[in-house]
Parts: sequence; C-alpha cells; structure tokens
Amino acid sequence: MPAPIATADPVAHAALLGLGVYRPRRVVPNAEIVDRIDSSDEWIRTRSGIASRGWAEPDETIVAMSVAAARDALTAAGVAPEQVDAVVLATSSQMVLGPSAGAVVATELGMQDTAAYDISAGCAGFCYALGNAASLVRAGQARHVLVIGVERLSDLLDPTDRTCAFIFADGAGAVVVGPSDAEGIGPVAWGSDGSQTAAIKQDKDFMQYFAEVDAAAVGGDSPERPYIRMNGQAVFRWAVTFLEKACRDALEKSGVTVDDLDAFVPHQANSRITDALIRTLGLPETVAVARDIVETGNTSAASIPMAMEQLLRSGSARRGDTALLLGFGAGLAYAGQVVQLPPIN
Ligand code: UT7
Repeated sequence: MPAPIATADPVAHAALLGLGVYRPRRVVPNAEIVDRIDSSDEWIRTRSGIASRGWAEPDETIVAMSVAAARDALTAAGVAPEQVDAVVLATSSQMVLGPSAGAVVATELGMQDTAAYDISAGCAGFCYALGNAASLVRAGQARHVLVIGVERLSDLLDPTDRTCAFIFADGAGAVVVGPSDAEGIGPVAWGSDGSQTAAIKQDKDFMQYFAEVDAAAVGGDSPERPYIRMNGQAVFRWAVTFLEKACRDALEKSGVTVDDLDAFVPHQANSRITDALIRTLGLPETVAVARDIVETGNTSAASIPMAMEQLLRSGSARRGDTALLLGFGAGLAYAGQVVQLPPIN
C-alpha cells in the first residue's frame, strides 16, 4: 500500500481584503502624442475614450510600482507582509525573464520564504491571477495571497504606431486575497484562443532581434527593436461579439444576475467596448461602470485593479458592493468573475 498523502485543510470562502494602486508620476495628454501618429485629441477621445495616460519614468520599474501598490493593498487589508503565503504577479512587460518579478517584489516587501511567481495572460492577467489566488486560499494552500497586475507598456510602444501609441500605458494595482465568512470571489469564467495570435502580439522575438543586431554589426541594416502590435479592428470585433458570453458565464457561475450588480469593471481597453457590453448585457442604469481609461489609458494587466480603485475613490462604488470584473486581450485570453469590492486605503 502506498503511504496515504495528506491534503491541505480547505476553507469555505475567499474574499478581496484590500486594494492598492500605483499611478505613474508623469501624466501624458493626447496633445503630446498626436503629431507623431497624425492624429488629434478629438479622434483619440472619440474613438477610445482616452484623454491622458501615465507613462513611467526610469525609476518607476515593474518591481517599484508593484511594491508601492502592494504596500497600500496590505495596509487596506490590515495584513502584514509576513502573513502573506504567496505572491502572484501578472504582467506582459517585464523585460527580465528571470527571476520572476513576484519573487523580487516579495523580498522587497520584507517577506521571507514566500511562494512567488508571475503570470502572463495579457490584459486578462489580473483576473487569471485572481482566480489562481482564490483557489489557493479555498484549497488551504495559502491563507493570504498578494495578487498584483503591473505593466510598463510604454517600453514596448512604437511612438509612430497609429494603433498602439495612444492606447497603452503604465501602472500597478494589487489586492490581498484571504479567507472570509462569506464568498467574496465567484468562480472564474476563462479561456483563450492562440489561433488569434496576430490580433495583439510582440512583433518579433528578442532572439530574432539580436540576430539582426549582429548582422547590422557586419554591414546589415540597423534593425527595429521589438514592439507591441495590434489589429485594432479584429480585437474590437472579438470584444463586442464574444465577451457577452464570458460575462454571462461569470454571472451564471456565481448565481448572480445583472440586477444584482452594483458595479461593472471591465478591462479598460476602449470606452466603446465598455458601452457595447453595457448594451448587450442590458446592465441597469444603477450599475456603476469603471471609466478609468479616460485618465489612465489601457494598462493591460493593471487596468482592472486600477479601475476598481478609481470607482471606489470617486465614491461611485463602495466596499462590499457586488461587481463583475472582466479582463480580455492578447492570447486572445479572457477571464471574468463576480466579486465583492474590497476596502482601499
Ligand atoms: O487591451 C487589449 C485589448 N485591446 C483592445 O480591445 C483594443 C481594441 N481596438 C480598438 O480600441 C480600436 O480598434 C482602435 C481604438 C485601436 C482604433 O479604432 P477604430 O475605430 O477601430 O479605427 P479604425 O482602425 O477602424 O480606423 C478608422 C479610421 C481610418 O480612417 P478612414 O479609413 O475611415 O478614413 C483610420 O485611418 O481612423 C483612422 N485612424 C486614425 N485617425 C487618427 C486610425 N488610427 C488613427 C489615429 N488617429 N490614431
């Protein structure tokens, strides 16, 4: 007989215990971007909803922004760093492949011997990480999990690219997930479609770029560095046709209807996508809708916690409100869940 293997002690419910964000110091209005992409402030506002965005300065690294957001989340939760058993960090713009940013962040926060890892799921990254964290807590594998969504997408932007240069931005958001008397994080509805890689992707891998740099050194053309590229129309079409189902799946799995919702926090990709989802879902007018994109742009894995914070800080939503979160983007990956909104600092 093989030796019986014990299991961890599960807990019944998990919840968001606290939320914090970091917004870059440098605010970049549309006026600073338009000349290089032959655009206008009016076009960008009308077609995307964006008026300005935050672009990080050199010292506002993935790790530094994560640590700042995490400190606020821990304070809001009343949880000390040593009480955290795991750090799950979602990003697509950490230029260092190893070690994981999560491990460095955990140590900078004063954690010791804490499980830490990164998740790459594009703009769905935060909701993927949140699904992970809630499962870890409910399974008894961790009591408190720090979830971080963070990006420095300005590092990957071609400033002359008319589709991407005005959309993507930088920032960080963090939540603490822990045990709770009642459920605060519904089951995740998630998926991906790798056949649609061309819709949003880094246009060349770094090995290809280094080979081109080597060739240039012996007389070849000077290569362009890798940039993020997007087929805006393809992503837009997918978002406004497919994602209604993702939202309905997340609601159904949680046993919640649109009439039970207090808030809707979709990925801040484009205000017109948000408007289309409101219409197709038939959200009542009483539901507060996150519109952080106006001043923050599209911060990919950071956008949902940043947008939650903006809703709470503005007073449009309150701690304990029932909210539908929906992340979506490269991959084409999506993840959504119903949550109860956490406290902020
Ligand atoms: O976070 C990951 C998920 N990402 C998304 O969800 C993004 C989804 N896509 C989008 O948000 C939109 O597709 C964009 C905002 C990127 C573009 O808006 P669009 O309404 O799809 O523009 P379009 O590409 O269909 O172009 C419409 C017109 C064209 O001109 P004509 O042919 O109608 O004369 C373009 O040449 O707008 C023109 N155009 C621009 N004009 C000024 C395209 N880009 C620009 C620009 N400034 N930056």
